[in-house]
Amino acid sequence: MNNKYINKDFPFFLHGGDYNPEQWINTPEIWDEDMRLMKKAHCNAASIGIFSWATLEPEEGKYDFSFLDEIMDKLEKNGCAAILATPSASRPIWLAKKYPEVLRTDANRQQNLYGTRHNHCLTSPVYRRKTAEINERLAMRYGNHPALFMWHISNELNGECHCELCQNAFRAWLKKKYNNDLDYLNYSWWNAFWSHTYTSWDQIESPSPRGEFLSNGLKLNWARFVTDQTADFLRNEIAAVRKYSGKPTTTNFMAGPFQGLDYNKLKNEIDVISWDSYPWWHSPEGNTSIAQKAAFHHDLYRSLKMKPFMLMESTPSVINYMRHNKLKRPGMHKLSSLQAVAHGSDTVQYFQWRKSRGQYEKLHGAVVDHSGRDDTRVFRDVCEVGKTLEKIHPILGSKTESRVAIYYDWENSWGLSFVQQNELSDKKYLDTLLAHHRYFWNNGINIDIIGPGEEYRFSDYTLIIAPMLYMLADGLDQRLSEYVSNGGTLVSTYMTGWTNSDDLCFLGGFPGGSLKELFGIWAEEIDELYSSDENHIRMNGSDGLSGTYTAVDMCEIVHPVTAEALAEYTDDFYTGSPALFKNPFGNGCAYYIASRTKDDFFNEFYGKLSKELNIKSVIDAKLPDGVTAHSRYDENSTYVFIENYNSYPVSLFSNWNFTDMETDKSVSGKIQLPPYGIRILKKTSF
Ligand code: GLA
Ligand code: ZN
Repeated sequence: MNNKYINKDFPFFLHGGDYNPEQWINTPEIWDEDMRLMKKAHCNAASIGIFSWATLEPEEGKYDFSFLDEIMDKLEKNGCAAILATPSASRPIWLAKKYPEVLRTDANRQQNLYGTRHNHCLTSPVYRRKTAEINERLAMRYGNHPALFMWHISNELNGECHCELCQNAFRAWLKKKYNNDLDYLNYSWWNAFWSHTYTSWDQIESPSPRGEFLSNGLKLNWARFVTDQTADFLRNEIAAVRKYSGKPTTTNFMAGPFQGLDYNKLKNEIDVISWDSYPWWHSPEGNTSIAQKAAFHHDLYRSLKMKPFMLMESTPSVINYMRHNKLKRPGMHKLSSLQAVAHGSDTVQYFQWRKSRGQYEKLHGAVVDHSGRDDTRVFRDVCEVGKTLEKIHPILGSKTESRVAIYYDWENSWGLSFVQQNELSDKKYLDTLLAHHRYFWNNGINIDIIGPGEEYRFSDYTLIIAPMLYMLADGLDQRLSEYVSNGGTLVSTYMTGWTNSDDLCFLGGFPGGSLKELFGIWAEEIDELYSSDENHIRMNGSDGLSGTYTAVDMCEIVHPVTAEALAEYTDDFYTGSPALFKNPFGNGCAYYIASRTKDDFFNEFYGKLSKELNIKSVIDAKLPDGVTAHSRYDENSTYVFIENYNSYPVSLFSNWNFTDMETDKSVSGKIQLPPYGIRILKKTSF
């Protein structure tokens, strides 16, 4: 059997949702009805046990697995895969009452009462023991159950705790990091500033609105510690499961990209990446923009392990916490579900299978509504997705190939958000990445999102785009220089190479490290524009670029050293100062864009670079606005997904020959897509 699958014993696209049968324990006929409906909806998977702890262990040490036994067996009989969660995201009240240390302490040093979810200390030995105990029992009981597909560890890990246990763990973490050398820490954090020099380790406290919240070194290392402590918590949970079960593990990541944890580190603890996607379709922002943002997230999460990921949650209809909870327009459910598959997901899963009768999420979209009916629009939409996933079965486990990568680093994002400058809290880092990503999305070009780890092989890419590389990860400047020197093309922007990984500014001019040589420039100053202001950059005609483009937000004043200037500013006192640079370096080339630009500039700039580097769309067709295309491939075939995010039909023209995977019909020439439509085509010749 091929091991390209998440679980080789279940070689199907998973389709299903978060399932909370414990809420219906007194009406087991609903469980049977669920099984009937799952089959009818072409659902073959259920995530269970996520919030079941109080049912599984109603009193300390008194376990009752009867409901889960029954559900696991029912799932098996129904041909459904179980994604069994460990219940740590939400603990029983008795546990919190008996062991108050498990409750989280906030940054004001106030301990929370019992309530909501994720309200637990990441360090508490009691909580770790209690989670390990229940996990072990779950693994012992179900680790080899035929329905078990994988382990879903906790749920949407997030948050931090500032209790004394966590403070001590933080200090120990710092001691290790700084070789037990407090002077080294003081230097690295530049603590002579404001007389903040520590003279003993126990003076160090986590950031707090009541105390230190302006020390970048402290904030940065606290954020790193929270990730490491969460990873440690996760490891503790997984170790308990591993005693009895070798099934793959995941934990569900969040959109944002979520800033509270560095997923580039956390990913190492789990076997498969999964994430929860809740785009606000049909919001005033417009579906094209929403779709591209979702695409960026799919690209990011796929690239974390460079293999198929899981869409662990999405809504089959509405989300209950938006300003307006808009229904998905006809077509949008299928389009948005299969968008994930186009980007490399091997599952389409929902929150939630059945609406709960009461409580906070009772009105959140579900496959089965309170009506309990199977003749609803949502139910039919879900059926259709299920049928399509069955038809496109050969795509399962196939890969994505990209020659272009955008560099994204959580730590850089944190560093940028700490800069005491600019009205924008995070300096629009994500918006900037999205602006660069957009050109490739609009043009149907596959793109990966890579990060600082050695596991990302820069040499796999023809083009790497690393905007606003403000805080340099250790050794990154050398790796980028090597990449370019070996023939790669690199694009970066203003606000690059300002600080090292301790957030200490480079001396001797920006960009620091070896980036000055790589880009062949030095940056002197940066001008911040009011949102009502604009500057412009005019191409000077060299390098085949032409036109004048709007510059907004940030204009850096940069001097060429070895680089060639390709454009200059047209306004203000720095009129005539160069604004775009090209520096041939070894066998490759590095470009530096000195100001924030808009789509028209990227169309010109990346249009030219794509031509030069022979970077092509996944289909030989001109894509109308609001339409994109992506591809997956395996040893034998290439699969092309064409997505129309417009509320009107579109058509495009291709000279290639395809088979439509849903209808098995040949396709060539004119390809039509309905409003919010998607076509999934297998390439037969070109
Ligand atoms: C998250 C959680 C789910 C549910 C959904 C609602 O993704 O993991 O339990 O609360 O949000 O959108
Ligand atoms: Zn704590």
